[in-house]
Amino acid sequence: MLSDTLLHNSLFLICCLAFVVQALGHSKTTTSHECISTQVISQEELSNRGGKDGGEIWLSILGEVYNVTHGKKHYGVEAGNYNFFAGKDASYSFVSGEPVSDEWTFEMITEEDIGMIEEWRQFYANHEEYKFVGYLEGPLYDSEGNETKLLNELKQKLKNLNANNKN
Ligand code: HEM
Repeated sequence: MLSDTLLHNSLFLICCLAFVVQALGHSKTTTSHECISTQVISQEELSNRGGKDGGEIWLSILGEVYNVTHGKKHYGVEAGNYNFFAGKDASYSFVSGEPVSDEWTFEMITEEDIGMIEEWRQFYANHEEYKFVGYLEGPLYDSEGNETKLLNELKQKLKNLNANNKN
């Protein structure tokens, strides 16, 4: 029973990694939004971009909001297996593969989690078709689009992870 679960989890992770590696291989290398004037998106505005009635589909990862309407076959209300990523900050779903639960908070992101989330963030930032929209007002960006202390703590976790991986 335990070994079945371990095998299942390992296959799941390998699939996930393979997909990200393949996807990153097709992407450009720009990850900065410096040239784009900062737009701050409210949680309410984002929640209206879940793709209902053929509308735009936006998702947020680590507080960065992307327009992923081009990926309707993944994220759309009817067709998408990944519709639960739309209209919200789905950071944790990129680790769990499941909808974010109400009990979940950004403080719970571990060093291991942040590595996986960052790979997906880069996937969206570098994607040819998905466009950066702005920063989500909330735990990671304030109402003026400035990074919060919590975001800096998460960035520090990522640095620690990268440093540990080098050793
Ligand atoms: C934590 C687990 C997982 C996450 C977070 C995840 C996330 C995603 C996301 C966000 C996309 C859409 C990418 C895009 O916009 O182009 C996607 C597509 C896809 N995923 Fe996953 N996935 C997970 C697990 C898996 C597993 C276990 C498999 C299969 C073994 C899988 C197979 C695929 C395939 C084949 C596509 C592309 C579908 C297509 O192009 O039509 N994923 N995944």
